[in-house]
Amino acid sequence: RLARLEVLPEVDSTSRRLLAAAREGAPSGTVCLAERQTAGRGRRGRSWCSPFAASLCLSVLWRCDEGPGRLGGLSLAVGAAVAGALRAAAPVAVGLKWPNDLIAGGRKLGGILVELQGEAQGPTAVVVGIGINVRMPDGAGEAIDQPWTDLAREGAAPPRNALAAAVLDAVLPLLARFPGEGLAPWRPAWERLDALRGRRVVVHTADGPVQGVAEGVEADGALRLRTAAGLRRFHSGEVSLRGA
Ligand code: BTN
Repeated sequence: RLARLEVLPEVDSTSRRLLAAAREGAPSGTVCLAERQTAGRGRRGRSWCSPFAASLCLSVLWRCDEGPGRLGGLSLAVGAAVAGALRAAAPVAVGLKWPNDLIAGGRKLGGILVELQGEAQGPTAVVVGIGINVRMPDGAGEAIDQPWTDLAREGAAPPRNALAAAVLDAVLPLLARFPGEGLAPWRPAWERLDALRGRRVVVHTADGPVQGVAEGVEADGALRLRTAAGLRRFHSGEVSLRGA
């Protein structure tokens, strides 16, 4: 349920702001949207480029009674829900790249960052950050370190208000259902949109690269990889196409 909606012309990061608000008691269902982020953050310590009015940048604070250990797969479920909302709001063939990149035409269209605050057991404050490139300026490419695209370049750029509403309509009910049902309800959709399935990939882990064929995801969100030594599962890491 939406408890509070804050729309800002500028913020350092919508997710950082909600993590701070969580420490000060902000209610579950607080949403922060910004026209521009000056220090947007991506996964794995990367920065996230969010120039004025060019993308959808929003974060949702959600409080749940589960410890962080029970939230495996949440970011994949959010990815599937956002991809569904996007496909309905804009005629773009969106795919997913594990764990939760939104892909169009083989390039990155958006991403999801899930950050947790809390103890190993007991309640957790979760901040789900969603960034979707809508109509990026031509010069934006210099600040992005991977092949990227936006909705306008893919031939569809719905009004960002409509997009925000569609994304929130998909994500807020998901957060209510997730503690009880986990990834299961979104897993078939995730696997249908899986851009890596059946492809030869390299998973870059802390212990080095592992090659294999991507075979979808486990119920807890782990990536399944068929390697010469058998099936392996990865809970974290970065995936690239082999040879790419
Ligand atoms: C990724 O690396 O793919 C995740 C990118 C997440 C970006 C969004 S934009 C809104 C929210 N606020 C942030 O600082 N990051 C997330």
